[in-house]
Amino acid sequence: MDDRFKLYHELAWLWPLWGDAQTEYAHYCQSVVDRIRRHAQRPVSTLLDIGCGGGKNVLNLKDDFEVTGLDLSPEMLAQARTLNPECRFVQGDMRTFRLDETFDAVLMDDAISHMNSRADFVAALRTAHAHLRPGGVLIATPDVTTESFQQNSTSVTLAAARTSPPGVEVVFIENRYDPDPTDEQYEATIFYLIRDHGRLQIETDHWTLGIFSLDTWRHVLKGMGCELHEGRYSASGDDYVVFSSVKTP
Ligand SMILES: C[S@@+](CC[C@H](N)C(=O)[O-])C[C@H]1O[C@@H](n2cnc3c(N)ncnc32)[C@H](O)[C@@H]1O
Repeated sequence: MDDRFKLYHELAWLWPLWGDAQTEYAHYCQSVVDRIRRHAQRPVSTLLDIGCGGGKNVLNLKDDFEVTGLDLSPEMLAQARTLNPECRFVQGDMRTFRLDETFDAVLMDDAISHMNSRADFVAALRTAHAHLRPGGVLIATPDVTTESFQQNSTSVTLAAARTSPPGVEVVFIENRYDPDPTDEQYEATIFYLIRDHGRLQIETDHWTLGIFSLDTWRHVLKGMGCELHEGRYSASGDDYVVFSSVKTP
């Protein structure tokens, strides 16, 4: 199984086309801001976005916080810098990196499913916790949990026309399949149909991602000595559990 992430390397130019940063991410990010303000037990001015990717969340959070983005992929970080030239971005692995500073808030969204073993999952959440100031809030949104997973679910997304290069049309087809529901992994297979002035190029990604039960999330987060709040984010067909984890002062 080839687990190289083309989307985060040679196909990173497609990321801005898969969901418009300004329109599709704004509503969710406002809910993140609201949760942080509601639960924080300290003034919040700085935020670390772990697995910041192309910086779409950063775009929608930077008016409220001084944001630092962290990601493993240089190509994704380049996208994030282009979108947010005024913000700071750092390359690192969420399982192991340690910056010599802490933040009032940390966001883990849309990247944690790349932790496809229990050990990596715990390591990444420990990293987040280690970068949080006392009284600060970690917002963690699982893409999928054991409870929410839908076998063989398949989505088709047309590239946002506003961000597509002239003459380029892209369709994203993503299939999620769990060959063994008793373990903590599932497969995501993605087809990219790229038409450049009508000429078709087909690319694929095949990833092994992590999936954990809500009780596992609760157990790991509480085990770090946090006060845990659980909420939901529901909008336009999306429905996610959101954990707000306050570092005990
Ligand atoms: C779907 S993208 C996140 C997009 C992002 N939320 C945005 O606003 O554009 C997932 C990201 O996780 C990053 N990633 C995967 N494994 C990682 C790791 N071990 N450490 C840090 N980042 C990682 C990838 O490089 C990728 O950019």
